[in-house]
Amino acid sequence: MSKVLILNGSPKANGNTALALQEVEKALQSQGIETETVHVGHLAIRGCIGCGRCRELGKCVFDDAVNKVAPLFEQADGLLLGTPVYYASPAGTLVSFLDRLFFSTPFSKSMKVGAAVCVARRGGLTATYDMLHKYFGISNMPIATSRYWNQVHGQTPGQVAEDAEGMQCMRQLGLNMAFLLKSVALGKERFGLPTLDEELAWTNFVR
Ligand SMILES: Cc1cc2nc3c(=O)[nH]c(=O)nc-3n(C[C@H](O)[C@H](O)[C@H](O)COP(=O)(O)O)c2cc1C
Repeated sequence: MSKVLILNGSPKANGNTALALQEVEKALQSQGIETETVHVGHLAIRGCIGCGRCRELGKCVFDDAVNKVAPLFEQADGLLLGTPVYYASPAGTLVSFLDRLFFSTPFSKSMKVGAAVCVARRGGLTATYDMLHKYFGISNMPIATSRYWNQVHGQTPGQVAEDAEGMQCMRQLGLNMAFLLKSVALGKERFGLPTLDEELAWTNFVR
């Protein structure tokens, strides 16, 4: 059975982001997908300092929730991110968390299905959505989408429940993500992972 790791990037355990994520989660579970949610948005997570020690250690030099979540990510077949929009970006804690999680983990993320859910009172949702998708796009991760960009509107906790179209979009996202997870599982069995049989080219555009 495929499993999805869900990261709630809101400081609020039961805010709008949690509600939106739960709507996706219910749809995933209805399709037989296992889920595990970790709340990270309320933690004190420092940013990446670019020290590169993770290349020696195989984990982040700061031994906090990032290193605890890393094995859950390794075992998961999909990653679902949720964030409130803060100044047209994901919440800063989630960005710090994801920078360190993606940079410090040596395991392959190839064909783990990614999806991102954004919640805001009014604006900045698509910019936030684009930012979160960048983590997937640099990691060989296919991205699950919905019938609209994955966004729900609400300000005070609970208000997103009133956004009928937004919540429908969440349910469709769950179904689409489940379909992709099952398709990837079948594809892996039948064709294997699409691994490039070449030495990695690593250039910085100057030499
Ligand atoms: C620091 C801060 C910045 C915010 N920036 C935006 C913004 O750029 N656009 C917007 O529509 N809402 C913004 N909001 C509102 C939240 O995105 C909104 O209340 C959201 O529903 C909170 O989700 P939560 O209950 O999961 O924390 C901001 C809220 C805070 C606290």
